[in-house]
Amino acid sequence: MEKIGVGLLGLGTVGWGVYQAFHHRQQVITKKTNRLFEIRKVLVKDVERPRQNRDVFPLLTDDFSEVLDEEVQVIIEAIGGVEPARRYIEEAIMAGCHVVTANKELIAKHGVSLEQLAHRHGVKLLYEASVAGGIPILGTIRHLLQTNHIHRITGILNGTTNFLLTEMEKKGVSYEEGIAVAQELGYAEADPSNDVDGVDSMYKLAILTRLAFEVTLPFQKIPYKGIRGIKVGELILAKKLGYAVKLLAEVGRETNQDTVSLRVAPMLVPLSHPLATVEGVYNGVHIEADGVQDITLLGQGAGTEPTASVMLEDVCNLFLLPPPMVQDEPEAVILPEEPFGERFI
Ligand code: NDP
Ligand code: HSE
Repeated sequence: MEKIGVGLLGLGTVGWGVYQAFHHRQQVITKKTNRLFEIRKVLVKDVERPRQNRDVFPLLTDDFSEVLDEEVQVIIEAIGGVEPARRYIEEAIMAGCHVVTANKELIAKHGVSLEQLAHRHGVKLLYEASVAGGIPILGTIRHLLQTNHIHRITGILNGTTNFLLTEMEKKGVSYEEGIAVAQELGYAEADPSNDVDGVDSMYKLAILTRLAFEVTLPFQKIPYKGIRGIKVGELILAKKLGYAVKLLAEVGRETNQDTVSLRVAPMLVPLSHPLATVEGVYNGVHIEADGVQDITLLGQGAGTEPTASVMLEDVCNLFLLPPPMVQDEPEAVILPEEPFGERFI
């Protein structure tokens, strides 16, 4: 049986989940792929830090070149941020490694060039876990696109803020207390202002938009607004009036078909809408398309196990699925000044 060496970058919330998942699900993935996977090195920032399991210590390094020096065919990136993650992924691709990543910032900003680089080197770059955690949203969109035109996607794409809004509305906890718990549970980004200010949702929306509408975005121009400063009383009042307050990310094609409108903002969602039922760390994505009409997917949007599970699926798909289509640098779209106007969904 072919042996596949794996280099794991990062051993935090996501990386630790991946490390554990490889051990717990080794039999299943071996059977599925007919390959034996072995983590050969784990890159961290601080090799001296206490870890969840002593067994991992011999694998730790803070030097990326040691990861590539091992016989590795797959790199799993879970360190986050743009640099040095981009440099490591580029080096890995150029050394002939497949790459799996959960890094939405990197894929939103450099996904096209990295995919093209991977294509040129005959390897795959997969990033299902970068959007909506455990929900297989990118795979679903690729499936839908085979026969559908997607008109609109509306999603709760950030688990931290949805968790925070739920804790505030249901338990009356303050904004600050809620954020502290989300950090403890490993849901929040290294800088949680990326969650609460809508930046994380904006990166994810950019990835969805590029895939579903085949456009590249001048993404510094995507309008986004977060939930900073929202009050418990406002959430309770909204509920009394028949709405849930949700941080929504939405994109829709304009009627002339050449442009898309998109934004991230807190919005009032009627309690009858499926996205109003999405609570806690769950995410939800509602897709409207011409053939399938509309579908909604719900699932855990952040956290160790769901994210690691999706990354492991990507690892299997490296060997089971044909490479995804690589887009040429698509035409930039023009965002209208007032996307959607003011409206409730
Ligand atoms: P953490 O902060 O929990 O972990 C980051 C890990 O990367 C740590 O092990 C850290 O090392 C290591 N690291 C950070 N910088 C460097 C560096 N420069 N060189 C080497 N190692 C480094 O992050 P998460 O696990 O939460 O997130 C990782 C990625 O996954 C991010 O892109 C995030 O957006 C994405 N993601 C996160 C989800 C979640 O639920 N948390 C869900 C989906 C995606 P050390 O341990 O020594 O500090
Ligand atoms: N901080 C992110 C969230 C992690 O809360 O959704 C998952 O991408």
